[in-house]
Amino acid sequence: MGRITSELAKLSIVFDRLRWEEKELFERAKEEGLEVNLVDAKSMPLDLTSSSVPSSIADLVLQRTISHYRGLYYAAILERWGYRVINSYKSSHLCGNKLLTTLLLSQNGIPTPHTFIAFSRDSALQIMDKMGYPVVIKPITGSWGRMIAKVRDRDEAEALLETREMLPDPQQQIYYVQEYINRPPRDIRSVVVGDRVVATIYRYQPDDDWKTNIARGGKAELLKPDSELEELMLKAAKVVGGEILGIDAMESSNGYVLHEINNNVEFKGASSVSEKNIASEIIKYVKGSVSK
Ligand SMILES: Nc1ncnc2c1ncn2[C@@H]1O[C@H](COP(=O)(O)OP(=O)(O)O)[C@@H](O)[C@H]1O
Ligand SMILES: [Mg+2]
Repeated sequence: MGRITSELAKLSIVFDRLRWEEKELFERAKEEGLEVNLVDAKSMPLDLTSSSVPSSIADLVLQRTISHYRGLYYAAILERWGYRVINSYKSSHLCGNKLLTTLLLSQNGIPTPHTFIAFSRDSALQIMDKMGYPVVIKPITGSWGRMIAKVRDRDEAEALLETREMLPDPQQQIYYVQEYINRPPRDIRSVVVGDRVVATIYRYQPDDDWKTNIARGGKAELLKPDSELEELMLKAAKVVGGEILGIDAMESSNGYVLHEINNNVEFKGASSVSEKNIASEIIKYVKGSVSK
């Protein structure tokens, strides 16, 4: 049982950098009549051994840090203390790790690109040779398309693996190797809030990049999802435990494949083309979620 007993009035938004999204959420929360404050995770240490919880954090928390690990551990601690955190530690843990996400999607019958995990340079190379080039290699944690490479041939594979072997982060030696999806020059992003797909966009890749992330210059265009896509998005959201998510999909020759679930969704691009106010939708959901 959580600490929330009385009627909701307060919300804390935990952040580490105020993006457009956090400012929007803050304004919409005020508009919805919530007493809202911003908690900077960078300047708010948490006392793990204290018997009292921080009074400056409201019972209901919207976790919005850019840093995956900051948000993840903030959620872990606050949840242990009985706070209601959106998204939950579990959801952040599953979504923040592409290995676990792919495993879950696949196990739950949700189409996802064919992916191997290799635990050494040599076996990664063997897998890439077997899959045939190009292949995509990704860090298991990360966003904005960073350090994701399209490997076109064996020479590139060897060079990339050699570099990754030298990197100090041990996760760089876990090789997430994925088939390259021969798709149109775009992918699909849905913003899911609770059990609803609130907005869906195509993201067109810029002329000088094969990745479609808005942060890399991808262009948003509104899309009305068909029922198949909508069902896949909602099923994927459920599998990771929700609640406010950005789910990525691609159009393969065999239909949709879902490749990523973001538990800290950026929605500026989608907001620029959607008729819905996504921040308001999120706040309304958060407000209504207290009894859940
Ligand atoms: N297997 C793939 N085939 C083709 N394009 C891909 C593939 N995986 C990723 N991409 C492109 O790279 C982008 C970033 O990949 P993604 O897995 O979503 O990681 P990130 O967490 O960095 O957003 C995708 O939005 C898509 O445009
Ligand atoms: Mg993505």
